[in-house]
Amino acid sequence: MCGIFGYVNYLVEKDRRYILNTLVNGLSRLEYRGYDSAGIAVDGDKKNEVFAFKEVGKVAKLKELIDESKPDLDKVFDSHAGIAHTRWATHGQPSRLNCHPHRSDPNWEFSVVHNGIITNYKELKHLLETKGFKFETETDTECIAKLAKYLYDEHPNIEFTVLAKAVIKELQGAFGLLLKSVHYPHEVIAARKGSPLVIGVKTEKKMKVDFVDVEFSEEGALPAEQASHNVALKKSTGNLLAPPDKSLLHRSQSRAFLSDDGVPIPTEFFLSSDPSAIVEHTKKVLYLEDDDIAHIHDGQLNIHRLSKDDGTSAVRAIQTLELQLQEIMKGNFDHFMQKEIFEQPESVVNTMRGRLDSVNKKVTLGGLRQYISTIRRCRRIIFIACGTSYHSCMAVRGTFEELTEIPISVELASDFLDRQAPVFRDDTCVFVSQSGETADSLMALRYCLERGALTVGIVNVVGSSISLLTHCGVHINAGPEIGVASTKAYTSQFVAMIMFALSLSEDRASKQKRREDIMEGLGKVSEQFKEILQLNDTIKDMCAKFFKDQKSLLLLGRGNQYSTALEGALKIKEISYLHCEAVMSGELKHGVLALVDENLPIIMILTRDGLFAKSLNAYQQVIARGGRPIVICNPNDDEFSDDKTEQIVVPKTVDALQGLLNVIPLQLIAYWLAVAEGLNVDFPRNLAKSVTVE
Ligand code: F6R
Repeated sequence: MCGIFGYVNYLVEKDRRYILNTLVNGLSRLEYRGYDSAGIAVDGDKKNEVFAFKEVGKVAKLKELIDESKPDLDKVFDSHAGIAHTRWATHGQPSRLNCHPHRSDPNWEFSVVHNGIITNYKELKHLLETKGFKFETETDTECIAKLAKYLYDEHPNIEFTVLAKAVIKELQGAFGLLLKSVHYPHEVIAARKGSPLVIGVKTEKKMKVDFVDVEFSEEGALPAEQASHNVALKKSTGNLLAPPDKSLLHRSQSRAFLSDDGVPIPTEFFLSSDPSAIVEHTKKVLYLEDDDIAHIHDGQLNIHRLSKDDGTSAVRAIQTLELQLQEIMKGNFDHFMQKEIFEQPESVVNTMRGRLDSVNKKVTLGGLRQYISTIRRCRRIIFIACGTSYHSCMAVRGTFEELTEIPISVELASDFLDRQAPVFRDDTCVFVSQSGETADSLMALRYCLERGALTVGIVNVVGSSISLLTHCGVHINAGPEIGVASTKAYTSQFVAMIMFALSLSEDRASKQKRREDIMEGLGKVSEQFKEILQLNDTIKDMCAKFFKDQKSLLLLGRGNQYSTALEGALKIKEISYLHCEAVMSGELKHGVLALVDENLPIIMILTRDGLFAKSLNAYQQVIARGGRPIVICNPNDDEFSDDKTEQIVVPKTVDALQGLLNVIPLQLIAYWLAVAEGLNVDFPRNLAKSVTVE
């Protein structure tokens, strides 16, 4: 939804030019997450001064504003903390005022950037207004900075971490946030609950002991004044700001980056909503978990838990990013979406790598191994997802039912929650999500966990909330998907779920032939993708010839191909803004046929499968009403040999996988329609890559 980025240098001399460039560059990498406004807060020229830059529009506009403001770019900072944000508006119009960072007061004593939503902000705002605070924005975020100031003013000697915990304990909803203050110069607090945050660490010198835990301390020795903080806070705020209890004094994990002789060494920290903004600086990262509060100060990173009794360790392993910089660059492509469409021959191979053994006809999904036999015995499998991820579940439902003979249902996460659908302990609930952060899916996951179901995550982003919260799962390994319209994640989800079904059905003798056919098909998908992608120019020309200046488009499919039609229609709508409706072919005669005439553009998915004869009926009905559909069909299909029917010919594969191939031309159609309209393909209006609000 939004992207947050922070940069802290400790004993590493950097001028303001470098600091601003690092923050702006970080935001550019995160821009795909939200792009209606952007802002930065860095230290000013004088002590206790903050320079904030905020601008409506894309990060490039913010850069222009900074250039126009002409700050002293040569000013050098030995240690410094800067925070930045790119926004996708939820509360309040995109405007300079509403864009982050938000401040506690005109002097910017506390500055905050925030991703997510604070559901109780109205109560907090009201309370703070009664304490004399004047709010200047329509956002939920502003109350965080003001609450911090309020608590600080009450307890001026409070430690930054204790203050941050007291603030965070008051916040309801979902958030990832960075907090900076003139009272704690060069320090940053990073906290998460339901919204991802990753911290990269870069040291100038190679340390002998590389990123190990050097200290594990009891944080008990608070000054008397802080220890009495609870009482004072309770008195001053009543029930709403419930007292921060003893949990403020609980254990913390301290990771100090020290030289052999125990002296802190020059260190840089990069904080981000996702690793794509960090990888160019360092590959050493750690992922925060929900209720973590990270405190960066004096070259050290301490991770505290919000509550000491939640049983979660505060030890976070330093991991090495696998991500390569070129994976998040456009390379020779004009758009990320185009690059990602063309990456699919490789991304599906990466999904299968080390998992599909086509020689021995075996599928091994390491993340599920311990749970496969439990899942085989479950009462039913419920797939829960949103948008494109939901379509991928729909696409594999038939094959799942056929191979496993377990009842399968596929649910939109929001609807599933609206209905408070029944879930039982012997259900398996599978959460499919590219980002692993989608709020609706996450809430549905929590709902299922509360009811004792076994939960499985099928996600792309490693370390994402869904991958952390589920009992087990599969990473689809499609690589970073930056374009807002999901393409390669769809095909990799599809493949991952087919492998899941193959793995579950391994013990079914009657299914072996079918399993082998599907495995053989999977082995060919990559080459077949390459073949289809050669249609790129033909499809571009078709778009110009048949769809230019059209107001509406129908997309027809049946059986497994209905989900392909749904996914194609979503791609076309979200990128090109052309109204496009997916219709189940069998339903055509029940109403939609009234729309059909010689003018309405129609695409029909008519590849050969068990339902081909029925699908052909719909085709005949359209032709009989003067319609001239474009068909997606297999090679040499003499049903469409007359020159009246425009064809997009895709290779034939086993019916369970045909949808994987059929969706590629639809992705290309969406792409070229948007390009022809001069639209911003990677940043469609009103949309964001990761939807972390309900
Ligand atoms: C459409 C698209 C969205 C997402 C949906 C769920 O191209 O990308 O429909 O599929 O917002 O997102 P994830 O998969 O991250 O849970």
